[in-house]
Amino acid sequence: MTSSTHVLAKKSISRRKIIGAAGIGLSTLPLMSTQVFAAVSDNARPQAPYRASTAEQKLDIISLDRLAVKARGAIPKEGYAFVSGGAGAEWTLRENRRAFNDYRIAAKRLVGLSNGDIDIRTSLLGLDMPSPIMVAPMGAHRMVHEKGEVDTARGAGLANILYCSSGASNATLEEIAQATTGPKWFQLYWNNDDRVTRSLLTRAKKAGYSAIVLTADALGPGRPEDFIAMGNPFRPDATFGNHDPEKGGFGDFGDQKTALTVKDIQFTKQFTGLPVIVKGILRPDDADRFIRAGADAIQVSNHGGRQIDGVPAGITALPPIVAAVNNRVPVILDGGVRRGIDIIRAVAMGADAVAIGRPFMYGLGLGGAQGVQSVAEHINNDLKSALLLSGASKLSDLNPDFIEIVGQNEEYSTFDG
Ligand code: FNR
Repeated sequence: MTSSTHVLAKKSISRRKIIGAAGIGLSTLPLMSTQVFAAVSDNARPQAPYRASTAEQKLDIISLDRLAVKARGAIPKEGYAFVSGGAGAEWTLRENRRAFNDYRIAAKRLVGLSNGDIDIRTSLLGLDMPSPIMVAPMGAHRMVHEKGEVDTARGAGLANILYCSSGASNATLEEIAQATTGPKWFQLYWNNDDRVTRSLLTRAKKAGYSAIVLTADALGPGRPEDFIAMGNPFRPDATFGNHDPEKGGFGDFGDQKTALTVKDIQFTKQFTGLPVIVKGILRPDDADRFIRAGADAIQVSNHGGRQIDGVPAGITALPPIVAAVNNRVPVILDGGVRRGIDIIRAVAMGADAVAIGRPFMYGLGLGGAQGVQSVAEHINNDLKSALLLSGASKLSDLNPDFIEIVGQNEEYSTFDG
């Protein structure tokens, strides 16, 4: 055992002890989402009034890793634990970052490019986008900022990037739609009560969302072990907005349907007439099956390592999925995308766009809407610089010839946020 694996093993043992003491052993975590949500409230400690950030400022960002370190010191510890952690022993969470190193950039030299030649614009499902980045769907933004999703969506609009609204938002989908001036998609958590599902889809279409993301890999909110050990301190004053009866909603968010099938892809498409993106795909045969069922795009994702530990990194799953998709529909990648060079690798290996999660939450916590805008601007600038240094002028110039596959031989040593 190397010293680093020894440290990790020790870490996971001590975490199991904590959970055992709290009476919430991992093996006893219920599979049904209704029960998962029941467990959330049963285990939650009575909460003192929770105040998150009210910051509203542009951020000077050197890197998203450093931003995560700043966020850890600035946002409430409950919010940070909720956002930063992953499922189980967090192997997949770490792997989402490490695995990018399996793909080295074979940069080209003396290709006659300068800054003015660099163009990171792209298009996705009919949207013209200033860059291939989007805000991944994430629930419960009021864990890090008082304005929650309204400010995240406003920040995405300030940067004109695509905002994907989570079905687990604290704000309503209508409040979020109004807050962003940019393009927007709605991510659906299917409810056991069909009336609730239909109502959410109808509302999303009416509010102007241009596509529906069907999350296929989640049975409830991610609850990292550090968060469980704190007693699942979700804010009692921040509910699931889309189900709030005072705001036109109904139904129990926790009553999620777990028995989803490809028929649900077909239903979503027919019912809304909107494109459907299936999110959470890690297998090429799943991608093929879902496209045959009508999926308009595939999102390769392991939910930021928050649902099941032990599955591969998105970037590892990407190449065989790209081969199976064979240009039939666009492919989106998420999980651990933090640098322009990560996006170069993803696009060179066939991704059309990337979704980014946690850094936008940190931007929100540290700077509200302007913080979110700063994160988008930072990653776009980093991508421009990475493209120039790779020897390509635009995203469509990238292809597997820019990548050298080296296999798993390196630990990612930088702090993982
Ligand atoms: C998520 N994610 C997520 N996905 C989804 O489809 N619906 C959801 O409600 C949520 N909620 C959520 C909350 C938080 C706090 C996080 C960090 C993530 C997963 C998300 O869409 C995306 O797959 C990952 O966040 C991408 O990984 P990175 O960029 O965070 O490493």
